[in-house]
Amino acid sequence: MANRATKIVAQLMGEDVDPSQLTVVPTAGKSSITVTDNRNGTSKEYEIKDGSVVAQQFWTDSKIRLYDPGYMNTVNCTSRICYIDGPKGILLYRGIPIEQLAMKSTFLEVSYLCIYGNLPSKKQLNYFSNRVMKHTYVHEDIKGMMKSFRYNSHPMGMLVSTVAAVSTLHPEANPALAGQNVYDDKRLRNKQMHRIIGSMPTMAAYAYRHRIGRPYVDPGDGLGYAENFLYMLDKLNQKDYKPHPTLVRAMDILFTLHADHELNCSTAAMRHLASSGVDVYTCVAGATGALYGPKHGGANEAVLRMLEEIGSVENIPDFVEGVKKKTRRLMGFGHRVYKNYDPRAKIIRGIAEDVFSVLGKEPLIEVAVALEAHALKDPYFKKRNLYPNVDFFSGLIYKAMGFPTDFFPVLFAIPRTVGWLSHWNEFLDDKENRIVRPRQKYLGETSHDYTELAARTEVPSDLQSYSTSESKRRGAI
Ligand SMILES: CC(C)(COP(=O)(O)OP(=O)(O)OC[C@H]1O[C@@H](n2cnc3c(N)ncnc32)[C@H](O)[C@@H]1OP(=O)(O)O)[C@@H](O)C(=O)NCCC(=O)NCCS
Repeated sequence: MANRATKIVAQLMGEDVDPSQLTVVPTAGKSSITVTDNRNGTSKEYEIKDGSVVAQQFWTDSKIRLYDPGYMNTVNCTSRICYIDGPKGILLYRGIPIEQLAMKSTFLEVSYLCIYGNLPSKKQLNYFSNRVMKHTYVHEDIKGMMKSFRYNSHPMGMLVSTVAAVSTLHPEANPALAGQNVYDDKRLRNKQMHRIIGSMPTMAAYAYRHRIGRPYVDPGDGLGYAENFLYMLDKLNQKDYKPHPTLVRAMDILFTLHADHELNCSTAAMRHLASSGVDVYTCVAGATGALYGPKHGGANEAVLRMLEEIGSVENIPDFVEGVKKKTRRLMGFGHRVYKNYDPRAKIIRGIAEDVFSVLGKEPLIEVAVALEAHALKDPYFKKRNLYPNVDFFSGLIYKAMGFPTDFFPVLFAIPRTVGWLSHWNEFLDDKENRIVRPRQKYLGETSHDYTELAARTEVPSDLQSYSTSESKRRGAI
């Protein structure tokens, strides 16, 4: 314990502090640690509350900053929405295990739970569902705007831009225009949340149909949330078209599993943007942008590309060797928080069977199962606690359901919107919230004088960029 604590606070890196000069000892019987600064022999006791100490004190008392790239050990808010026990593989929304919610609840109930803190009564659920479903209709200008995207635009690119554009339609809900306290009005706040949850599937469906040149379909009548989404994706000429109930349920459970995951990269981005006071649509656009990355929401897309590249079971050993040599990465494995089997991955394996029973087996599932078994036995993965995460099997379900690979992150963004908004809502009510402004450790020059252009000697740099042949032709002299 002493070693661990010493290590943690040995990372308190001040500009001129040698970490070996700091020692930390847990104070016997107390909920505190005592830090001795060996530069001057002073000792200071710090209270440990909820497993953490207030970092600002180290600056105030000793002019020491905490160096933490990737926020590996930084707590930047308190939250009551989502709890993860990484080593044990436990995920709770508002205290309720994800397994129970996935099996017993609907995505809209779970959305209510995440935002408002409890499962809704029938009356509350009705009200909430009506509000959300009403907002599945989007402004006609949004349709017009989406039509102007290039035919092959990535759907996440379309979603990021479109959700940001929605802010321009609601100046009354924009702190920059309507006053910085505009979100103190909870009804106004709710309206934006209901609108965003309602309209994300519609914008996503339009992005999908845009790519394949089909006319956009208005939301259906009397349909559930996931059902309406599939309806808007797939309706053609059938008057009373309804998606298959097994697929609707699978989609609804997948939405539930993706609704929140505490301070993942995109939710941290959501809070980061919210802290500047920018409108909620821009916050969601920023969070969607963070989700687009292959290390986050793009991971299931990357898993599928990886499985396609491996192609068949006999190629697995070679691929895994490449991973161990670090020339490759086993996508869909490993997690910043889970150091055990991701509980969502277990549920998703079950849903895969349901989907395959309707649509037929996705052939790559065999490669995935064999790859998982191979990796779980290998000491490289065991030693690093690398287990399948939520993305390992979800891509296969999406593929079996006929979604194009680059649409996968969109299927993640729709439900995660609920998590983003829950955190946004919580952030706004948090008396301790501050604008997010980390510190850097400056390692650059501090003593350069300006040199006139004529007097400069060239310093080698990474300036060169690519030119197309066409550009070279145009520029040829
Ligand atoms: C999710 C992820 C970014 C977490 O990264 P992290 O917490 O920063 O973990 P690190 O990158 O420090 O990994 C620790 C060690 O495990 C290795 N590792 C982590 N994930 C790995 C993976 N998917 N394949 C191979 N090795 C992996 C690292 O190379 C590192 O090895 P080292 O100790 O020899 O240097 C990472 O596991 C990853 O890239 N996974 C694949 C992408 C993915 O599935 N993302 C979806 C997450 S839901």
